[in-house]
Amino acid sequence: MKVAAIYFSATGNTEKSMKALAEGVASALGAEGIESVDVTCQPEPASREFGPEDFVVFGMPVYAGRLPLAVKDRLLAFRGNGTPCLVAVSYGNRHYEDALLELADMAKEQGFVVKGGAALIGRHTYGEIQVSRPDDEDLAACREFGAEAAQRTGSALAVPGNRPYREGLLRGRFHPLTSESCVQCRLCVRACPMQAIGEDCRTVGEDCISCFRCIRNCPVGAKNMDVPAYSDFAAMFTEKLKERRENEFF
Ligand SMILES: Cc1cc2nc3c(=O)[nH]c(=O)nc-3n(C[C@H](O)[C@H](O)[C@H](O)COP(=O)(O)O)c2cc1C
Repeated sequence: MKVAAIYFSATGNTEKSMKALAEGVASALGAEGIESVDVTCQPEPASREFGPEDFVVFGMPVYAGRLPLAVKDRLLAFRGNGTPCLVAVSYGNRHYEDALLELADMAKEQGFVVKGGAALIGRHTYGEIQVSRPDDEDLAACREFGAEAAQRTGSALAVPGNRPYREGLLRGRFHPLTSESCVQCRLCVRACPMQAIGEDCRTVGEDCISCFRCIRNCPVGAKNMDVPAYSDFAAMFTEKLKERRENEFF
């Protein structure tokens, strides 16, 4: 029996939450540990099949109330055979709209049985919104929910959202800049989920999804979005989304 956490996570929030959910599942099922399958830097993950005795936790961030359109098909590499699963989305304290439903629909189409769902708060990519989340309390709640949901026997779970899904985002609005302090270590080149950064660390292709992974990970702080159009937006957004939202478990 395998317990696997399969996720895309540009800035690490989804990864933390999915691991906590999977740990809860593993503890309830007496599994030895969890397997992490991180598709963030894998445009074409290797195909995998899971059996009815396994358990999978699927996780994605929310982009514009949907799954990130440019990367969601990476999950099609994974097939279940009546395999129980949890679906969870990480969102930045605004809303998750149709993303959780979309993930649940994908999992079902791929042969998984959805036992539970979660809409979880993580630091928003833009501005200063819920910057320390998911925090220890969030992760403890994920472990507890994972343990409870793993033992569910029913199979008719409904999660919020509408069909047809709202319009999603294929491309990003903010394309990171590179300052003079860049030392050309190429960490950003290697870690870009879309392989959108040229070998010079500076050129950004139109595939950029504005996930800000390069900005968060740059060891010398050279990657930035220091332009008024972004700063103004980030300040407005930070003010607008300052009320704390709570995680939801289904
Ligand atoms: C392009 C883009 C669109 C986003 N859209 C939303 C949204 O619709 N609602 C929301 O609450 N957060 C939104 N966010 C914030 C992310 O969902 C949130 O920061 C998430 O925790 C990121 O997960 P990660 O750290 O695993 O990449 C968006 C972020 C990006 C980059």
